[in-house]
Amino acid sequence: MALNLFMLKVTLVKALVSEETLTKQSRKPSGWLGKNILQPMFVKGNADLNQFILELMTVQVNEQVLEIGFGPGELLFQLCQQSPSAQFTGLDFSPLMLQQASVHTQRYIKSGQLALIEASSDNMPFANYSFHQVACANTLYFWQPPEPHFKEVLRVLKPGGKFVLGFRTGEQIDRMQLHPTIFARYTEEEVGSLLELAGFENIRIESRAGFPVDSVCAVAYKPSYKSIAQYISLLR
Ligand SMILES: C[S@@+](CC[C@H](N)C(=O)[O-])C[C@H]1O[C@@H](n2cnc3c(N)ncnc32)[C@H](O)[C@@H]1O
Repeated sequence: MALNLFMLKVTLVKALVSEETLTKQSRKPSGWLGKNILQPMFVKGNADLNQFILELMTVQVNEQVLEIGFGPGELLFQLCQQSPSAQFTGLDFSPLMLQQASVHTQRYIKSGQLALIEASSDNMPFANYSFHQVACANTLYFWQPPEPHFKEVLRVLKPGGKFVLGFRTGEQIDRMQLHPTIFARYTEEEVGSLLELAGFENIRIESRAGFPVDSVCAVAYKPSYKSIAQYISLLR
């Protein structure tokens, strides 16, 4: 029932707004459309995927955590609520999303637990080895090509740090009839290979039932000092 209503709203919006405008807005929301159409769609349509990411992260005491492409700020809000001793940073290149998420997470920004930053994920204003964990939901498709963004994630993670990447598979994107050019399509295996090529290790893909489609996440780790040392010793 809820799925039907959601899909009905999506169909209605698609009938009223050109496909090109809608897909550009999905990549970088702005103006009235971004605030009144895209934002509510993100909140409803990505809630299950964000919940799955939250559970896979299992944030520890005093960790430094980054979310890339936070959109309306739902995941950051829940993370701050769930892990009061951890420090969170959000990065998004949409001024509108920065503004909207700032309102939503105001109490955590005021308390100093959260900082939101406007920047792009292929050139992040953070020092090497800044974060224990990086999360990202529903943003991979817009990274064309994805390699510079994955390299940046690897750079800002601490050795042994964890990357949780929530995404819709190419087949799910087809079913949701999203624009083929702006929404790049990947299979689970392709995402795993991209992460491996970027230098991540212990990569696994997890999925579970969700709304409006099943939730899929890649979990990957930056090599730890120990595994780097082992790698060097193998070269000798
Ligand atoms: C489809 S929305 C997803 C929002 C949120 N993660 C969620 O699941 O509801 C994608 C978000 O990523 C942001 N974004 C896309 N590409 C980005 C990039 N290269 N750097 C930073 N933010 C980006 C957009 O501005 C938008 O807020």
